[in-house]
Amino acid sequence: MASLTKAFHKEPYPAISPSLPSLSQATKTVLITGGSTGIGYAIARAFASASASLVVILGRRPDLVCSAASRLTAELPGFKGKIVGRPCDISDSSSVAVLWSDLEKEGIVVDVLVLNAAHTSNPGPILQLGQDEVWADYIMNVRANLDLVERFSKQNERTPNGKKKSIINLSTMAIHNFAIAGSRPNYTATKNAGTLLLQQIARDTPVEKIQIISFHPGLILTEGNRRIGLDEKSAPWDDENLPGHFAIWAASPDAAFLHGRFVWANWDVDELRTGELRERIDNDPDYLKVGVKGL
Ligand SMILES: NC(=O)c1ccc[n+]([C@@H]2O[C@H](COP(=O)([O-])OP(=O)(O)OC[C@H]3O[C@@H](n4cnc5c(N)ncnc54)[C@H](OP(=O)(O)O)[C@@H]3O)[C@@H](O)[C@H]2O)c1
Repeated sequence: MASLTKAFHKEPYPAISPSLPSLSQATKTVLITGGSTGIGYAIARAFASASASLVVILGRRPDLVCSAASRLTAELPGFKGKIVGRPCDISDSSSVAVLWSDLEKEGIVVDVLVLNAAHTSNPGPILQLGQDEVWADYIMNVRANLDLVERFSKQNERTPNGKKKSIINLSTMAIHNFAIAGSRPNYTATKNAGTLLLQQIARDTPVEKIQIISFHPGLILTEGNRRIGLDEKSAPWDDENLPGHFAIWAASPDAAFLHGRFVWANWDVDELRTGELRERIDNDPDYLKVGVKGL
Protein backbone atom coordinates (compact mmCIF):
# COMPACT_ATOMS: atom_id res chain seq x y z
CA MET A 1 0.00 0.00 0.00
CA ALA A 2 1.38 3.47 -0.96
CA SER A 3 2.69 5.35 2.05
CA LEU A 4 3.64 8.98 2.64
CA THR A 5 6.49 7.88 4.89
CA LYS A 6 9.16 5.33 4.03
CA ALA A 7 8.29 3.33 7.11
CA PHE A 8 4.73 1.98 7.06
CA HIS A 9 3.69 0.57 10.41
CA LYS A 10 1.24 -2.23 10.93
CA GLU A 11 1.90 -2.60 14.64
CA PRO A 12 2.73 -0.21 17.49
CA TYR A 13 6.36 0.97 17.67
CA PRO A 14 8.52 2.69 20.31
CA ALA A 15 8.01 6.34 19.18
CA ILE A 16 4.28 6.14 19.99
CA SER A 17 4.52 3.97 23.10
CA PRO A 18 2.18 4.90 25.99
CA SER A 19 5.13 4.35 28.34
CA LEU A 20 7.04 7.34 26.91
CA PRO A 21 7.09 10.19 29.48
CA SER A 22 6.48 12.72 26.67
CA LEU A 23 3.19 11.00 25.84
CA SER A 24 1.98 10.71 29.43
CA GLN A 25 -1.73 11.43 29.86
CA ALA A 26 -1.41 11.77 33.65
CA THR A 27 -4.20 13.92 35.20
CA LYS A 28 -6.21 13.78 31.95
CA THR A 29 -9.84 12.77 31.56
CA VAL A 30 -10.59 11.11 28.22
CA LEU A 31 -14.01 10.57 26.62
CA ILE A 32 -14.18 7.98 23.82
CA THR A 33 -17.28 7.36 21.70
CA GLY A 34 -17.72 3.70 20.83
CA GLY A 35 -15.07 2.62 23.33
CA SER A 36 -16.51 -0.78 24.18
CA THR A 37 -15.24 -2.55 21.06
CA GLY A 38 -12.66 -2.43 18.30
CA ILE A 39 -10.55 0.65 17.74
CA GLY A 40 -12.27 2.65 20.50
CA TYR A 41 -11.47 -0.07 23.02
CA ALA A 42 -7.81 -0.14 21.90
CA ILE A 43 -7.67 3.66 22.24
CA ALA A 44 -9.11 3.39 25.77
CA ARG A 45 -6.42 0.82 26.59
CA ALA A 46 -3.70 3.14 25.28
CA PHE A 47 -4.90 6.16 27.28
CA ALA A 48 -5.11 4.06 30.45
CA SER A 49 -1.63 2.65 29.73
CA ALA A 50 -0.40 6.26 29.40
CA SER A 51 -1.72 6.94 32.94
CA ALA A 52 -4.86 8.97 32.18
CA SER A 53 -6.76 9.58 35.43
CA LEU A 54 -10.20 8.86 34.02
CA VAL A 55 -11.20 7.08 30.83
CA VAL A 56 -14.91 7.27 29.98
CA ILE A 57 -16.16 5.00 27.22
CA LEU A 58 -19.53 5.45 25.53
CA GLY A 59 -21.72 2.98 23.66
CA ARG A 60 -25.38 2.23 23.14
CA ARG A 61 -25.41 -1.27 24.68
CA PRO A 62 -25.44 -0.68 28.46
CA ASP A 63 -24.24 -4.19 29.39
CA LEU A 64 -21.41 -4.11 26.88
CA VAL A 65 -20.14 -0.64 27.76
CA CYS A 66 -20.01 -1.56 31.48
CA SER A 67 -18.47 -5.02 30.93
CA ALA A 68 -15.87 -3.49 28.55
CA ALA A 69 -14.83 -0.99 31.25
CA SER A 70 -14.46 -3.83 33.80
CA ARG A 71 -12.57 -6.03 31.32
CA LEU A 72 -10.13 -3.23 30.51
CA THR A 73 -9.59 -2.46 34.19
CA ALA A 74 -8.78 -6.15 34.75
CA GLU A 75 -6.37 -6.11 31.77
CA LEU A 76 -4.30 -3.32 33.38
CA PRO A 77 -3.67 -4.31 37.02
CA GLY A 78 -1.08 -1.54 37.54
CA PHE A 79 -3.41 1.23 36.33
CA LYS A 80 -4.12 3.74 39.11
CA GLY A 81 -6.88 5.70 37.37
CA LYS A 82 -10.46 4.79 36.61
CA ILE A 83 -12.19 3.39 33.54
CA VAL A 84 -15.96 3.79 33.40
CA GLY A 85 -18.57 2.87 30.81
CA ARG A 86 -21.61 5.07 30.21
CA PRO A 87 -24.51 4.16 27.96
CA CYS A 88 -25.08 6.95 25.46
CA ASP A 89 -26.42 7.01 21.91
CA ILE A 90 -24.47 9.84 20.33
CA SER A 91 -26.91 10.09 17.42
CA ASP A 92 -29.60 11.12 19.92
CA SER A 93 -28.95 14.69 21.05
CA SER A 94 -31.07 14.25 24.22
CA SER A 95 -28.88 11.30 25.25
CA VAL A 96 -25.78 13.43 24.63
CA ALA A 97 -27.29 16.33 26.62
CA VAL A 98 -27.90 14.03 29.61
CA LEU A 99 -24.33 12.73 29.41
CA TRP A 100 -22.75 16.21 29.53
CA SER A 101 -25.14 17.40 32.21
CA ASP A 102 -24.20 14.37 34.36
CA LEU A 103 -20.50 14.99 33.76
CA GLU A 104 -20.94 18.61 34.84
CA LYS A 105 -22.88 17.62 37.99
CA GLU A 106 -20.09 15.20 38.87
CA GLY A 107 -17.45 17.88 38.34
CA ILE A 108 -15.84 15.97 35.46
CA VAL A 109 -14.03 18.10 32.88
CA VAL A 110 -13.04 16.23 29.71
CA ASP A 111 -9.52 16.98 28.44
CA VAL A 112 -9.39 14.65 25.43
CA LEU A 113 -12.39 13.91 23.22
CA VAL A 114 -12.05 10.91 20.90
CA LEU A 115 -14.64 10.87 18.08
CA ASN A 116 -14.59 7.20 17.20
CA ALA A 117 -18.12 5.78 16.80
CA ALA A 118 -19.38 5.93 13.22
CA HIS A 119 -22.26 4.79 11.07
CA THR A 120 -21.78 2.81 7.87
CA SER A 121 -24.84 2.75 5.65
CA ASN A 122 -25.89 -0.21 3.56
CA PRO A 123 -23.92 -0.70 0.35
CA GLY A 124 -25.29 0.82 -2.82
CA PRO A 125 -25.39 4.01 -4.90
CA ILE A 126 -26.50 7.01 -2.86
CA LEU A 127 -29.61 7.58 -4.95
CA GLN A 128 -30.72 4.02 -4.30
CA LEU A 129 -30.25 4.07 -0.52
CA GLY A 130 -33.14 6.37 0.28
CA GLN A 131 -32.80 9.64 2.19
CA ASP A 132 -33.25 8.08 5.62
CA GLU A 133 -30.35 5.66 5.17
CA VAL A 134 -28.17 8.37 3.58
CA TRP A 135 -28.99 10.77 6.40
CA ALA A 136 -28.26 8.21 9.15
CA ASP A 137 -24.58 8.40 8.09
CA TYR A 138 -24.67 12.22 8.20
CA ILE A 139 -26.33 12.18 11.63
CA MET A 140 -23.57 10.03 13.14
CA ASN A 141 -20.51 10.97 11.10
CA VAL A 142 -21.18 14.72 11.05
CA ARG A 143 -23.96 16.01 13.33
CA ALA A 144 -23.28 13.81 16.38
CA ASN A 145 -19.59 14.70 16.28
CA LEU A 146 -20.44 18.41 16.00
CA ASP A 147 -22.77 18.06 19.01
CA LEU A 148 -19.94 16.51 21.05
CA VAL A 149 -17.36 19.04 19.91
CA GLU A 150 -19.67 21.97 20.76
CA ARG A 151 -20.34 20.65 24.25
CA PHE A 152 -16.66 19.84 24.79
CA SER A 153 -15.68 23.33 23.73
CA LYS A 154 -18.36 25.05 25.86
CA GLN A 155 -17.34 22.99 28.88
CA ASN A 156 -13.85 24.34 28.34
CA GLU A 157 -15.12 27.93 28.42
CA ARG A 158 -17.36 27.27 31.45
CA THR A 159 -14.89 25.28 33.55
CA PRO A 160 -11.36 26.09 32.42
CA ASN A 161 -8.99 23.79 34.28
CA GLY A 162 -5.87 25.25 32.69
CA LYS A 163 -5.13 22.09 30.69
CA LYS A 164 -4.69 22.14 26.94
CA LYS A 165 -7.46 20.11 25.29
CA SER A 166 -7.38 17.66 22.37
CA ILE A 167 -9.85 16.28 19.87
CA ILE A 168 -8.96 13.08 18.04
CA ASN A 169 -11.17 12.32 15.05
CA LEU A 170 -11.21 8.77 13.69
CA SER A 171 -11.41 9.43 9.97
CA THR A 172 -10.58 7.01 7.16
CA MET A 173 -8.40 6.67 4.06
CA ALA A 174 -11.72 6.47 2.18
CA ILE A 175 -11.98 10.29 2.42
CA HIS A 176 -9.32 10.52 -0.30
CA ASN A 177 -9.18 7.02 -1.77
CA PHE A 178 -12.74 6.87 -2.99
CA ALA A 179 -12.28 3.41 -4.50
CA ILE A 180 -11.46 1.75 -1.19
CA ALA A 181 -14.99 2.06 0.20
CA GLY A 182 -16.21 0.73 -3.17
CA SER A 183 -19.83 -0.03 -2.68
CA ARG A 184 -20.32 2.52 0.13
CA PRO A 185 -19.98 5.99 -1.47
CA ASN A 186 -22.13 7.53 1.25
CA TYR A 187 -19.74 6.44 4.01
CA THR A 188 -16.93 8.16 2.08
CA ALA A 189 -18.98 11.35 1.60
CA THR A 190 -19.98 11.62 5.26
CA LYS A 191 -16.56 10.77 6.71
CA ASN A 192 -15.07 13.34 4.32
CA ALA A 193 -17.64 15.92 5.48
CA GLY A 194 -16.90 15.09 9.13
CA THR A 195 -13.16 15.49 8.57
CA LEU A 196 -13.63 18.81 6.75
CA LEU A 197 -15.86 20.00 9.60
CA LEU A 198 -13.07 19.32 12.12
CA GLN A 199 -10.54 20.94 9.78
CA GLN A 200 -12.64 24.12 9.61
CA ILE A 201 -13.18 24.15 13.38
CA ALA A 202 -9.41 23.80 13.84
CA ARG A 203 -8.88 26.78 11.51
CA ASP A 204 -10.63 29.00 14.06
CA THR A 205 -9.32 27.29 17.20
CA PRO A 206 -5.81 28.03 18.48
CA VAL A 207 -3.84 24.83 18.95
CA GLU A 208 -2.85 26.06 22.42
CA LYS A 209 -6.53 25.84 23.36
CA ILE A 210 -7.72 22.67 21.58
CA GLN A 211 -5.46 20.54 19.38
CA ILE A 212 -7.50 18.84 16.64
CA ILE A 213 -6.20 15.96 14.51
CA SER A 214 -7.98 13.51 12.20
CA PHE A 215 -6.46 10.17 11.29
CA HIS A 216 -7.06 6.96 9.38
CA PRO A 217 -6.60 4.17 11.93
CA GLY A 218 -5.25 1.55 9.53
CA LEU A 219 -7.24 -1.52 8.55
CA ILE A 220 -8.55 -3.17 11.69
CA LEU A 221 -10.71 -6.29 11.82
CA THR A 222 -13.40 -5.02 14.20
CA GLU A 223 -16.93 -6.02 15.06
CA GLY A 224 -18.13 -3.42 12.55
CA ASN A 225 -16.07 -4.92 9.73
CA ARG A 226 -17.22 -8.44 10.60
CA ARG A 227 -20.81 -7.18 10.53
CA ILE A 228 -20.38 -6.14 6.89
CA GLY A 229 -19.04 -9.58 6.01
CA LEU A 230 -15.26 -9.17 6.28
CA ASP A 231 -13.03 -11.77 7.94
CA GLU A 232 -9.36 -12.59 8.61
CA LYS A 233 -8.75 -13.23 4.90
CA SER A 234 -10.39 -10.06 3.56
CA ALA A 235 -7.49 -7.58 4.05
CA PRO A 236 -3.89 -7.22 5.30
CA TRP A 237 -5.22 -6.21 8.73
CA ASP A 238 -3.23 -4.01 11.13
CA ASP A 239 -2.86 -4.44 14.89
CA GLU A 240 -5.63 -2.56 16.75
CA ASN A 241 -3.04 -1.16 19.17
CA LEU A 242 -1.47 0.81 16.30
CA PRO A 243 -4.35 3.35 16.22
CA GLY A 244 -4.57 3.01 20.00
CA HIS A 245 -1.00 4.18 20.52
CA PHE A 246 -1.16 6.65 17.64
CA ALA A 247 -4.13 8.35 19.34
CA ILE A 248 -2.10 9.20 22.44
CA TRP A 249 0.69 10.56 20.28
CA ALA A 250 -1.87 12.65 18.36
CA ALA A 251 -3.19 14.03 21.66
CA SER A 252 0.30 14.98 22.85
CA PRO A 253 2.17 18.29 22.37
CA ASP A 254 4.52 16.39 19.99
CA ALA A 255 1.76 16.33 17.38
CA ALA A 256 0.77 20.02 17.61
CA PHE A 257 2.27 20.66 14.14
CA LEU A 258 -0.56 18.53 12.68
CA HIS A 259 -3.37 20.70 14.10
CA GLY A 260 -6.30 20.66 11.62
CA ARG A 261 -4.74 18.01 9.37
CA PHE A 262 -5.39 14.41 8.39
CA VAL A 263 -2.79 11.64 8.64
CA TRP A 264 -2.64 7.85 8.72
CA ALA A 265 -1.77 5.93 11.89
CA ASN A 266 0.47 3.75 9.69
CA TRP A 267 2.77 6.70 8.87
CA ASP A 268 5.96 7.04 10.84
CA VAL A 269 5.78 9.92 13.32
CA ASP A 270 9.56 10.53 13.26
CA GLU A 271 9.44 11.04 9.49
CA LEU A 272 6.38 13.31 9.80
CA ARG A 273 7.89 15.56 12.44
CA THR A 274 11.32 16.00 10.81
CA GLY A 275 12.95 16.58 7.43
CA GLU A 276 11.16 17.28 4.15
CA LEU A 277 7.73 16.23 5.30
CA ARG A 278 7.83 18.51 8.32
CA GLU A 279 9.03 21.37 6.13
CA ARG A 280 6.12 20.86 3.72
CA ILE A 281 3.63 20.67 6.60
CA ASP A 282 4.98 23.88 8.13
CA ASN A 283 5.04 25.74 4.79
CA ASP A 284 1.90 24.55 3.02
CA PRO A 285 -1.31 25.34 4.95
CA ASP A 286 -3.38 23.10 2.61
CA TYR A 287 -1.15 20.03 2.80
CA LEU A 288 -2.83 16.95 4.34
CA LYS A 289 -6.18 18.70 4.30
CA VAL A 290 -9.51 18.03 2.62
CA GLY A 291 -9.84 19.97 -0.65
CA VAL A 292 -10.19 19.59 -4.41
CA LYS A 293 -7.59 17.51 -6.25
CA GLY A 294 -5.73 19.10 -9.16
CA LEU A 295 -5.98 22.75 -8.15
N1 LIG B 1 -11.99 -0.77 11.27
C1 LIG B 1 -11.34 -0.20 10.27
O1 LIG B 1 -10.59 -0.87 9.52
C2 LIG B 1 -11.50 1.27 10.01
C3 LIG B 1 -10.86 1.81 8.88
C4 LIG B 1 -10.98 3.17 8.65
C5 LIG B 1 -11.68 3.96 9.54
N2 LIG B 1 -12.29 3.41 10.63
C6 LIG B 1 -13.00 4.31 11.55
O2 LIG B 1 -12.63 3.97 12.89
C7 LIG B 1 -13.73 4.17 13.77
C8 LIG B 1 -14.01 2.92 14.59
O3 LIG B 1 -14.26 1.86 13.71
P1 LIG B 1 -14.57 0.38 14.24
O4 LIG B 1 -14.34 -0.49 13.07
O5 LIG B 1 -13.88 0.12 15.55
O6 LIG B 1 -16.16 0.48 14.49
P2 LIG B 1 -17.16 -0.61 15.08
O7 LIG B 1 -16.51 -1.94 15.18
O8 LIG B 1 -18.39 -0.48 14.24
O9 LIG B 1 -17.39 -0.05 16.56
C9 LIG B 1 -18.17 1.01 16.74
C10 LIG B 1 -18.36 1.26 18.23
O10 LIG B 1 -19.17 2.39 18.29
C11 LIG B 1 -20.29 2.16 19.12
N3 LIG B 1 -21.40 2.90 18.55
C12 LIG B 1 -22.00 2.73 17.36
N4 LIG B 1 -23.02 3.59 17.23
C13 LIG B 1 -23.04 4.34 18.34
C14 LIG B 1 -23.88 5.40 18.80
N5 LIG B 1 -24.91 5.84 18.06
N6 LIG B 1 -23.60 5.95 20.00
C15 LIG B 1 -22.59 5.50 20.77
N7 LIG B 1 -21.77 4.50 20.40
C16 LIG B 1 -22.01 3.93 19.19
C17 LIG B 1 -20.51 0.65 19.11
O11 LIG B 1 -21.09 0.19 20.32
P3 LIG B 1 -22.69 0.05 20.48
O12 LIG B 1 -23.15 -0.76 19.29
O13 LIG B 1 -22.88 -0.64 21.78
O14 LIG B 1 -23.24 1.44 20.47
C18 LIG B 1 -19.08 0.14 18.97
O15 LIG B 1 -18.50 0.02 20.25
C19 LIG B 1 -14.89 4.63 12.90
O16 LIG B 1 -14.95 6.04 12.93
C20 LIG B 1 -14.51 4.16 11.49
O17 LIG B 1 -15.08 4.99 10.49
C21 LIG B 1 -12.22 2.08 10.87
